[in-house]
Amino acid sequence: MIDRIVNTTVDDKAEDKEFEQSLRPHNFDNYIGQEKLKANLKLAIKAAKKRQETLDHILLYGPPGLGKTTMASVISNEMGSALRITSGPAIERAGDLASLITSLQDGDILFIDEIHRLNRVVEEVLYSAMEDFKLDIMLGKGPSARSIRLDLPKFTIIGATTKTGSLASPLRDRFGMIHRLEFYDPSEIQEIIKRAAEILNVKIDNQASEELASRSRLTPRIANRLLKRVRDYADVNGDGMINQSLSLKALELLDIDDKGLDVADRLLLHSIIENYDGGPVGVETISALISEDRQTIEDFIEPYLLQIGYLQRTLRGRKVTTKGYQHLGLKNTKNNLELI
Ligand SMILES: Nc1ncnc2c1ncn2[C@@H]1O[C@H](COP(=O)(O)OP(=O)(O)O)[C@@H](O)[C@H]1O
Ligand SMILES: [Mg+2]
Repeated sequence: MIDRIVNTTVDDKAEDKEFEQSLRPHNFDNYIGQEKLKANLKLAIKAAKKRQETLDHILLYGPPGLGKTTMASVISNEMGSALRITSGPAIERAGDLASLITSLQDGDILFIDEIHRLNRVVEEVLYSAMEDFKLDIMLGKGPSARSIRLDLPKFTIIGATTKTGSLASPLRDRFGMIHRLEFYDPSEIQEIIKRAAEILNVKIDNQASEELASRSRLTPRIANRLLKRVRDYADVNGDGMINQSLSLKALELLDIDDKGLDVADRLLLHSIIENYDGGPVGVETISALISEDRQTIEDFIEPYLLQIGYLQRTLRGRKVTTKGYQHLGLKNTKNNLELI
């Protein structure tokens, strides 16, 4: 996979992790945007506290970089609960899950990132743990094997996934709250950039933060990352102050256009237009055309292109819209009246 600034996975580099950590909001007040989600969660937290109960299990879904992990830690702070963090692929066997949840205490929150990647066996153990706070485990093997049932502490699971579609429905049904994180408004992204600049002690003027916001794919993680790159550029080529002309030069260097599209996005649109007359074409074919795996296309490239209306999902595959053509400076000559 090419190294894209718009890749919204956290790099393994310690420097990047530390950077993200330092910018992470800690409570509802500095978590910008997602107002509907916040209102729902605030209510649930208030009610749980009033009844002195643990919070219902919560599933957060949406494209990478929109603030799911951040929200899990905000929830734990607001509840005053301890937070344990793990991920679907990290829990390999039922025993791993058992030792994890038996070490929890009443009221603790267990955050499972990429919960759609749990394997089936683990998932089934999780069902009864989530529903009745019981854990069924098998002792021994063969004819002498017996199963015992353990009582578990009353904990809360917060699951995060990029798509609910790939979650088995029995698992999905065990979440009391299921919430989708939305792309942010440009003004919210600008606010996030200003907040980050303040924390990083970077001077940025209004025009420049607006410019960065318009190229951040409506995604906080990308906004922060662009700010970081532009700050580097300003330190080397300027006096440290980020203004519009300086940020434009830095962004040009990164090959990010005025809508936040990078080489891979433009390649995807161009390939569909040149090879399939704008589509519709299946995602597997697109994957072969641009040499990116399907997962990357579905998680990192498509959601934003769909959101801004450059790409359309139809029953027969993906289609570039007239807006998408226009962005590339091309004319859509195809009759676009077919039913979608
Ligand atoms: N609502 C928000 N307000 C301010 N910053 C945010 C917000 N949501 C996310 N961020 C920033 O974006 C980064 C990525 O968010 P993260 O929670 O890791 O996304 P996800 O888990 O959905 O991939 C965080 O480090 C945080 O600094
Ligand atoms: Mg995350």
